[in-house]
Amino acid sequence: MNRLRLIGGRVIDPHQGIDEIADVVIDDGLIASVGTRADRGRQRESSNGERTIDVRGLVVAPGFVDLHCHLREPGFEDKETIASGTRAAAAGGFTTVCCMPNTNPTLDTASDVGWVISAAGRTGLVRVHPIGTITKGQKGAELSEMADMAAAGAVAFSDDGRSVDSNLLMRHALAYSRIAGRPIVDHCEDAVLADCGVVHEGRVASLLGLRGVPSEAEEIAVARDLVLARATQGRLHLAHLSTAASVDLVREAKARGVRVTAEVTPHHLLLTDDWVAGNGSGRPPYDTNCRVSPPLRGNEDRAALLAGLLDGAIDAIATDHAPHTVVDKDCEFDQAAPGISGLETAFGLLMRLVHGSQLDLPRLVRLLTIGPARAFALNAGSLEIGAPADVVVLDPSAEWTVDVERFYSKGKNSPLAGERLRGMVRLTLVGGQVVHETPR
Ligand code: DOR
Repeated sequence: MNRLRLIGGRVIDPHQGIDEIADVVIDDGLIASVGTRADRGRQRESSNGERTIDVRGLVVAPGFVDLHCHLREPGFEDKETIASGTRAAAAGGFTTVCCMPNTNPTLDTASDVGWVISAAGRTGLVRVHPIGTITKGQKGAELSEMADMAAAGAVAFSDDGRSVDSNLLMRHALAYSRIAGRPIVDHCEDAVLADCGVVHEGRVASLLGLRGVPSEAEEIAVARDLVLARATQGRLHLAHLSTAASVDLVREAKARGVRVTAEVTPHHLLLTDDWVAGNGSGRPPYDTNCRVSPPLRGNEDRAALLAGLLDGAIDAIATDHAPHTVVDKDCEFDQAAPGISGLETAFGLLMRLVHGSQLDLPRLVRLLTIGPARAFALNAGSLEIGAPADVVVLDPSAEWTVDVERFYSKGKNSPLAGERLRGMVRLTLVGGQVVHETPR
């Protein structure tokens, strides 16, 4: 038997209500036990074929689950590949990722979905679940073969990057989501109202002379989708929510029994549109790495997203890891591709909320593990006995400086370059195998 013991760490598994100093024992890639062992020392000496890692002072948690990342394969391998993106995921503590279908070609059919699953089996370091498109080619004209894709392993459907403009198609898609048993993940944005804006409509947009995206562009789409989800009893998941009123709408809909879940990103939780103006800290304004869709919003929105995490209106934190090339970003602000390479900075950035006493660590772990796993009905996010040993070991107080050149992701597009973060991923295990290690 192949045994690995992580001894003496603070084990946090919100699914099982565990938060205690304990040992995690992994046998042949599965969780064998979580608990305290009086005979720990003796066992360490006596047994063969056993690796013991001392994790005292560290946190042991289920591997993180990301509902929303862009691995860019097939078609945009200059931005990212399944190999580079999953290596970045492992470095970020993510053991399960769901990848968006805005590839080239888009993931429209069972065979497209099957291709990603088999490519991930060959080159992926962590578990990869593809998301299929809602409409063919993400063109918004005709529904994709959702039931076939679900049978092939698609965990959800999304036209992420753009919203489904047709109310009728969205209504059909939500009705089908019941049959397919998988959620519709909406990029909520009324394209007409967004009007090719590139930053949040507000003071910063005016100051910099950039076209703004009003909050209502998102909120109207959220409201429409909630109405349609209620009417169809479909399964709706709202991607990267960014405004205060969106959170209110979700909260009210949940109270009325609408089958909706929602995610927010680390960047919308921690950054604001002030970052586009230079953040008041000597950074140059117009940093294209701050261009993201939806845009970074104002401080009141940020506070409301956080409140949504605390009261359960928001179910999950998802990275929206969107890697781009230097060429995609080395241009005028409004010409730059939107997106932030986020897998490797997510935990360190989110720990600012914990160190600032705005969020406690068990809740953060919940929002990165069982919260997202439940939203997409994934068999992940817990250290239950018998579960595959997808585990992360975290060092909450270790400080580091973000060096984008050292990212495993091909996407170096991060507004956090040079930032000091406190909170580091020390070890990531998938099925008991080490896929990332940063020694103390
Ligand atoms: O900023 C974004 N980038 N938002 C999206 O919805 C799409 C993503 C991308 O694919 O680059």
